[in-house]
Amino acid sequence: MQPDVIQKEIARRRTFAIISHPDAGKTTLTEKLLLYGGALQLAGSVRARRNQPSTTSDWMELERQRGISVSSTLLQFEYQDHIVNLLDTPGHKDFSEDTYRVLTAVDSVVMVMDAARGVEERTRKLFEICRLRHIPIFTFYNKMDRPALEPLALLDELERVLGIGAFPVTWPLGSGAEFRGVYDRLRHELFLYEHTAHGRHRAPCRVGSLDDPALRAQIQDPSEYARWREELEMLAAAGEAFDDQRVLRGEITPVFFGSAMTNFGVQHVLDYFILHGAPPQARAAGRGPIEPADPTFSGFVFKVQANMNPRHRDCLTFVRVCSGLFEKDMQVGDPRTGKPLRLSYAQKLFGQDRESLELAFPGDIVGLVTHKPLPIGATLTTDPTISYDEIPRFPPEAFAIIRSTGSAKAKQFRAGLAQLLDEGVIQAFHLLDDVLGAPLLGAVGQLQFDVVMYRLQTEYGAEPRLEPAPYTTIRWFDPGVTPADLETDYLGNNVRLARDIRDQLVVLFPNDWSVAYFQEKRPQLTLHTVSPHLDARSTHHAAPIA
Ligand code: G4P
Repeated sequence: MQPDVIQKEIARRRTFAIISHPDAGKTTLTEKLLLYGGALQLAGSVRARRNQPSTTSDWMELERQRGISVSSTLLQFEYQDHIVNLLDTPGHKDFSEDTYRVLTAVDSVVMVMDAARGVEERTRKLFEICRLRHIPIFTFYNKMDRPALEPLALLDELERVLGIGAFPVTWPLGSGAEFRGVYDRLRHELFLYEHTAHGRHRAPCRVGSLDDPALRAQIQDPSEYARWREELEMLAAAGEAFDDQRVLRGEITPVFFGSAMTNFGVQHVLDYFILHGAPPQARAAGRGPIEPADPTFSGFVFKVQANMNPRHRDCLTFVRVCSGLFEKDMQVGDPRTGKPLRLSYAQKLFGQDRESLELAFPGDIVGLVTHKPLPIGATLTTDPTISYDEIPRFPPEAFAIIRSTGSAKAKQFRAGLAQLLDEGVIQAFHLLDDVLGAPLLGAVGQLQFDVVMYRLQTEYGAEPRLEPAPYTTIRWFDPGVTPADLETDYLGNNVRLARDIRDQLVVLFPNDWSVAYFQEKRPQLTLHTVSPHLDARSTHHAAPIA
């Protein structure tokens, strides 16, 4: 294929994820983006997927029982001559490390917030991960059809709490029952929506100017109109300027207001995202960043779903293509053994459906069916000198000791646990002063423990038992810090040192107070929330994510 054709394909790709706190409207917005993207058949499937009983495997049974989606899928659609790859993330409150990992495979993010609530806990954590990567973040304030906080107060909160500059691209006219539309500050156009039953259709709207007589006719109270015009003037005079480059670096976020449920203001997000979202970006590798236009094929594994079908015991490995062309049947180096590995069973993932995939470009996600899982973070490439930086380990917030209850099943227990750790289902640590050798598991969400227990029992026939451990917070150190450097002073009650799976030293705390005490006693040490660091700049963001 001609390099200019590949270049064009790269430039028209937009790969992103939606982040939000539960209930802010991620599922609804996803449906509506698909609706506006013309992928109507997919739009209906997003919510259906969440509710539908699945019979395909035992693994799905866990999802069904708990009414949740454990796995993330990919939705792809074409919009205005662009290929949009939307990586869906688990939506349930029991989210897991998967959600974080998906964020390592996208080039931009849409952050959805409930306009009546503003920044919530989950949004903040996910935002921090995005900021570490300096990726563009588009903000959508949803549910404007309900009473909302003052838009100016929401912008102020973005800057104060998340520390990101905000540029409102659209500005809402009213909220709740009085929500009439939005003013597009870049196109200088006013969009007045009609309240009709149009859940599955585009919202009918009228486009006009600020002085539109139809608008004046709709607003009974002249003081409301005057106040709204004042806000717009104030934003023009005192707000951030729109700067493409600063958006791409993640320094300012374009902000949109709307109502996903009634389809108000949704298309603006999509239109501007296509225009200003990042195309596939260069990725940091040991020998320096690899550009997407580099002709050598390379990609990395960011998610593994093993034993999806108990009859076949195969697994699905999600690979983000970073450079070159992916072609079915191509041969790469096996990251586990270094031997050749033929990529024969490649799939294009499409919601719940799969189809065989022949070709993929940088920015695309490929699903590989393999017998054994490829390690999370592994590089797949035809050039052995390319090795992508590891996917960081994200900070677990719940910990438990896991043991095998019966010695008869100890072998299955060990084999099963080793495989689940390989797949990155959960993290494991070894306490430095532990004599029994039982691993300490660390999870971002409770769901990860459930998955481990369920899979050890059903897939490996093991008899595991979990015992809660008293830690809530973990921190990593700069390389070179040793236990001897730390143990000169009392660590604190229930504060323990441990090593992660890569032998890096970590410290575990039972509460925020003990973190503060530890840090106060050792001001010279930097405590890191994520390991290994995404890049050298990440130390600037070493403030607790929790
Ligand atoms: P999530 O994926 O972020 O968890 O949120 P989801 O889209 O499922 O939305 C959570 C709830 O908020 C849903 O109501 C949904 O209908 C509602 N919602 C989403 N967008 C809007 C909006 O723009 N305006 C209003 N008023 N509500 C919105 P539910 O009752 O929990 O579910 P359902 O019965 O409607 O499916």
